[in-house]
Amino acid sequence: MFKKSVYIERRNKLKKLVNSGIILIPGNNESPMNYPANGYHFRQDSNFLYFFGQDIPGMAGVIDVDNDTEYIFADDVDIDDIIWMGPQPTVKALASEVGVENSRKFGDLADFLKSAKAKKRTIHFPPLYRNDHMIYFNNVLGIPFNGMNKYASEALIKAIVELRSIKDQYEIAELDKACDIGYMMHTEAMRMAQSGVGEREVAGRMEGISLSHGGVPSFPIILSVNGQTLHNHYHGNVMQEGNLMLADAGCETTMHYPSDHTRTTPVGGKFTQKQKEIYQIVLDSNNYAAEIMKPGVTNLWVHMKAAEVLVKGLKDLGIMKGDPEEAVTTGAYALFQPHGLGHMIGLDVHDMEGLGENYVGYDEKTKRPEIFGLAALRLGRELQPGFVLSNEPGCYFIPELIELWKRDKKHSAFINYDKLDDYVDFGGIRIEDDILITDKGSRLLGQKRIPVTPDEVEQTCQGMR
Ligand code: GLY
Ligand code: MN
Repeated sequence: MFKKSVYIERRNKLKKLVNSGIILIPGNNESPMNYPANGYHFRQDSNFLYFFGQDIPGMAGVIDVDNDTEYIFADDVDIDDIIWMGPQPTVKALASEVGVENSRKFGDLADFLKSAKAKKRTIHFPPLYRNDHMIYFNNVLGIPFNGMNKYASEALIKAIVELRSIKDQYEIAELDKACDIGYMMHTEAMRMAQSGVGEREVAGRMEGISLSHGGVPSFPIILSVNGQTLHNHYHGNVMQEGNLMLADAGCETTMHYPSDHTRTTPVGGKFTQKQKEIYQIVLDSNNYAAEIMKPGVTNLWVHMKAAEVLVKGLKDLGIMKGDPEEAVTTGAYALFQPHGLGHMIGLDVHDMEGLGENYVGYDEKTKRPEIFGLAALRLGRELQPGFVLSNEPGCYFIPELIELWKRDKKHSAFINYDKLDDYVDFGGIRIEDDILITDKGSRLLGQKRIPVTPDEVEQTCQGMR
């Protein structure tokens, strides 16, 4: 946990921004996996962690802005709990650790909320994503299930986005730590990328490194020789020489700050010429994006400039043609990279996505584009010092998408479909780093960049680094 003053200051800023009413931040509960007492790994809600710090199930944080009073509602453990879980601090002590003066039994929250509702006071709550919370809000406040999140507070969402978008020094230190664990995960995966090794073995080792240095991976590990499927969680293949192993994985630190890196490794440690050519184009796109990211430019512009690098490279190989800028603005490039350049990273690996992607990634000045590919960009708005984001260009040959576009002769002014026949079984390449926007530019998070040039990747895979 950070020091008490961090949480006090965050709540004070939140109070100022929201200005009136009651703010309710529900913490998460245990969630059953296959029978009630066998739960999924507990993950606290990130807003609760941010403002109330405690990584414990069964809590709710309340700020009565009008009366400048703060509460944690939760139950003290009883002797049965102590027998199974060991002694636990009282809720009063836990509240005091994060500078909250008042603690109440969880059961008292319902009356508190009903009384506030009866007095017609505004209760600000964030969008809900867990069914148990939805049932509670329906039972206690009578909010209908249908379209429940229409009742979430826009004022609260905007205030949280404003605060959580800018990472402070303590958060940056945690994110650096997460990236250092990510370094270990990815270099080990590169070393394991050998013919005859199962994808599952590599994914399992990566997960083990994450667990032994922090917590669970920051999202289910994506690792596959079929990297053209963007989020491929199937780990049942045995890798063969000639395959490309795409690994997109990160860890959470013990404080739940994540990393999110992707590397693509030639199985056996040697890229073919064809693989190296495409790899270098993606790397050029990644490096160029990192070079131009700085405060004051929009990430939409960075995305488009990085996509132009992709188009120029594919033009050199005869796969694309025409004006690179136009190939990007028309969305022709998206055949090869149907996803965005990146997303915010914070307490959530896609930071604050549960609050609504457009609140996080766009604003009055930068509207989300509507065309295929560009529309998939999660973070488009102007970059500011303290933003942390992923930089993850890729190049994929998705046979089904190629077939569809070819049939419709889509963007045929920019795409040499005949040339594409040679690449239909190529797979996919993505290269992802985590970036902090600084006062003047940006820097990579973590002490060292994970091996990324073709030579570095080959040497790591061959056990030479
Ligand atoms: N690393 C997975 C994603 O960003 O979608
Ligand atoms: Mn990512």
